[in-house]
Amino acid sequence: MRLHESAIEPTRLHLWGTRAALEVRCPMPGVLRLRHAPSSAGVGFLHPQLTPKQSWAVVTDEEQPIQVRREGDTFHVTAEGVALEVARTSGTWSFRDATGRVLARCEAVSGEYAPNMPLNHSRARLALHAPEDEAYLGFGEKVGPLNKRGQRFKFWNTDVMPHHPDTDPLYISIPFSIGLREGIAWGFFMDETWRSEVDVAYTDAERVQWESWGPELDVYLITGPHLADVVRRYVALTGRPPLPPLWSLGAQQSRWGYEHADDIRGVIQAYRSRGLPLDVVYLDIDYLEGYKVWTWDRSRFPDPQGLTREAASAGVRLVPIINPNVKAEPGYAPYEEAKEQDFLVRADSGDVLVGEVWARPAVFPDFTREEVQRWWGDWHKEFLEQGIAGIWNDMNEPACFSLIEATGSVMATGGRSEEAKRTEGKTLPFAARHGRQRHVEVHNVYGMAMTKAGYEGFRKHAPQRRPFLLTRAGYAGMQRYAAAWTGDNSSHWEHLELSMPMLVGLGLSGVAFTGADIPGFIGQPSAELFTRWTQLGTFYPLMRNHAAKPMPMQEPWRFGDRYLQLAKAALERRYRLLPTLYSLMHEASESGLPVLRPLLMVDPTDPEAIHAFDAFLFGRDLLVSPITKPGHTKRMVYLPRGQWLEWPNLDKPRAVREGGQHVIVDGPLDTVPLWLRAGGGVALTRPAAHTTTANWDYLEWHIHAGPDVRLSLYEDAGDGYGESRLTTITGGMDRGRFWLERRVQGNLATPREKETLRIYGLKGVRAITGALELGSLVDGVLEVPMSVKWDRLVVSF
Ligand code: GLC
Repeated sequence: MRLHESAIEPTRLHLWGTRAALEVRCPMPGVLRLRHAPSSAGVGFLHPQLTPKQSWAVVTDEEQPIQVRREGDTFHVTAEGVALEVARTSGTWSFRDATGRVLARCEAVSGEYAPNMPLNHSRARLALHAPEDEAYLGFGEKVGPLNKRGQRFKFWNTDVMPHHPDTDPLYISIPFSIGLREGIAWGFFMDETWRSEVDVAYTDAERVQWESWGPELDVYLITGPHLADVVRRYVALTGRPPLPPLWSLGAQQSRWGYEHADDIRGVIQAYRSRGLPLDVVYLDIDYLEGYKVWTWDRSRFPDPQGLTREAASAGVRLVPIINPNVKAEPGYAPYEEAKEQDFLVRADSGDVLVGEVWARPAVFPDFTREEVQRWWGDWHKEFLEQGIAGIWNDMNEPACFSLIEATGSVMATGGRSEEAKRTEGKTLPFAARHGRQRHVEVHNVYGMAMTKAGYEGFRKHAPQRRPFLLTRAGYAGMQRYAAAWTGDNSSHWEHLELSMPMLVGLGLSGVAFTGADIPGFIGQPSAELFTRWTQLGTFYPLMRNHAAKPMPMQEPWRFGDRYLQLAKAALERRYRLLPTLYSLMHEASESGLPVLRPLLMVDPTDPEAIHAFDAFLFGRDLLVSPITKPGHTKRMVYLPRGQWLEWPNLDKPRAVREGGQHVIVDGPLDTVPLWLRAGGGVALTRPAAHTTTANWDYLEWHIHAGPDVRLSLYEDAGDGYGESRLTTITGGMDRGRFWLERRVQGNLATPREKETLRIYGLKGVRAITGALELGSLVDGVLEVPMSVKWDRLVVSF
């Protein structure tokens, strides 16, 4: 990049040359935005201005003041909480926090523009120095361990079935990473929707190299210092996830192959007759008439409204699949309307692009346009009126198996060259047209734009209800609209284990509401794998059992009575945990912090914790270390610094173990090894057949006495936008005293008069004071039934 001119404005530093430009702004305290345009010839920009841009990801449009000082060949930029030095001619930079510490150093920015590059014209590249001891986390939905150093990834939403532990790319593209060195974290977000790549010190062990196939690199540099600060700032930038309805946190059952309304009735009945908790049943593509979106096959689903009503009377919500491929069939309303209004993606030739997915022939609404989003949103109305509770968006990368000629025949080799097949994959061609943009530029936002349309349709047509959408594809900011699941995994032990770093990686990338198909979408799960996966899935924010059509049935009762009882225990545990999970989802909606967190969150300086990707934190205080291998009844787990109470199954507590070391823990088939940190706690309720309200009439606090207690319980009706109540309990421990203080905010009245407080880890209790009824010591646990009005408790020991 060669720059020679400069302009300093109150909120912007702008450098440019004949073919390149760099613009520095501060969109919020602690964050800088750098738009690098290293090779502008292709987009024909006129200096000194960069072309205006509407981001899909970023929701803040603040402009903070910046101060710029020029010293020889260097510009020194400072703004609240951040500093940057930019080399005047090369546009390379060093990024610092407010203390002056260098967080990141850009060593090279370059661009290419070649009108004869076969698939696209531009490349923009940026190389960051990768200090030897720096770890890189995040990157959205990616395989591999938590630390992605030494890997290389593409960002290109892709329908892959089956995927393997090393498959890349997958369905979701979030070009965001967190660097972590000596416990200090910083974030890098490349807000480019183009096909792009990152080489995380793979080709060159000393560099992280980002590349976009567009003409620019629009980059956000985010300060920490804590990992959690980076995530919070990234989510403030790209949007917080709305609080989902409580029912969507209940148990969910799905299967490609529930072909008749009676299958749905049968599933609900089977759950209920066995006393198994259940909140949601999905309707896969089987319910559609000829794979036509927004239809019901009335021969098999004669009365959708009656079915949703019947399900609701058993406490179950129905969530149908909605795919973006619209059958090109004359007379079929979605097709006719879209064609008539010119809402469809066009081929390079300018004709409407016709492909093949489930629907054949199929056309694709151009969701990148607002009028198309509104039109699609309105299609939700009738489904919502029929009593549909949520929407499942699938195949929205978009998947397209092959292209179809005007004559109606599938084009040879699926309609593309070998090279195109390799790079484009099973989707629309790079050159497909979305108005003036080409598919290669907007492919990665297609799925998110579809969920945006759905979310807004929901808000418009069912304004009293909270939207629930589940999506397979997405881009940075997707958390504003939908939950995500990790697509077509397999019934392999490796995939059970892989789901942990995948979901934690998504969480660090702003997507808090996630799950993986339990016990694997493809394949034949053994009863043991089914059991272990159901136990782990208890802690996924989204807990769905789902299977592919030709696979054996895998609902909880398909493996024999012993395993049914084990699954039942796991599902009941899930329902006991709902007050905590719901509160964590509420926390995510306020701060962006995910439910599933890496062990590193306890102490980012802990060099061992980064390698522990087969365990995670559920919220701040509960450590989940599931069994991930067949036949194993014990496992090794790394406990971060601090003290941890072994609390298998959230049941009878065992010993307190010192952290900062690996320990061996028991995990026979009926046991999930769990740990509660000293100073930590959770709120539990009773198991239930299905959710009702999140204003709990029964509540137990379980607290491991220790320093720095910080708990919160968020309660409301579980849906809608009414009154709420937030209870926070803080506390500490010092020289023979353990105390808790409780504060309640909000107008929602509570239905309970009593709560139980169970305090672990205190020996030799001498006295309890506070506005409480007398506690008793049972098995070393202090049990205190208490009025919900208490505000202070002191235990002397
Ligand atoms: C895709 C989805 C899967 C779904 C199937 C049929 O493979 O990922 O979940 O069951 O399509 O609709």
